Amino acid sequence: MSDLDDLYQELILDHKRHPRNFRDMPDATRAVDGHNPLCGDQLRLFVKVADGRVEDVSFIGVGCAISMASASMLTEAVMGKTVQEAQQLFADMHDLLTRNPSGIDPAELGNLGALAGVHEYPMRVKCATLSWHTLDTALNTDDDVVTTE
Ligand code: FES
Repeated sequence: MSDLDDLYQELILDHKRHPRNFRDMPDATRAVDGHNPLCGDQLRLFVKVADGRVEDVSFIGVGCAISMASASMLTEAVMGKTVQEAQQLFADMHDLLTRNPSGIDPAELGNLGALAGVHEYPMRVKCATLSWHTLDTALNTDDDVVTTE
């Protein structure tokens, strides 16, 4: 395993152990439940959008290390971005996690690049994309629930 793989693995474990922005958000403008029926894991993603910008984003829930780390990293990456930038990030992450080759350079995505190796493990792709699909649903639809199936 390379030093970079070690670093990425450590980053994922750190986000799993100490998830960022893991909290309820009573004044959220959108709250969407993301559910993976295959394993039963679920999370609730909160987004507060004002003037076309993501002013706050948080989540609560239970899940595997990959799903929790991905959600935690998502909140750090999306915080403060415009809705348009957040939508582009969803598109990039979806490519990175589901396509091989993806055409996305993981190094350009900062910490999120730690999730790049997930596409090699089909069973884990849905773990990593759960929070991202939930974000996409929160920003682009009126739906309150999204599943990975
Ligand atoms: Fe359930 Fe990963 S095993 S989301």
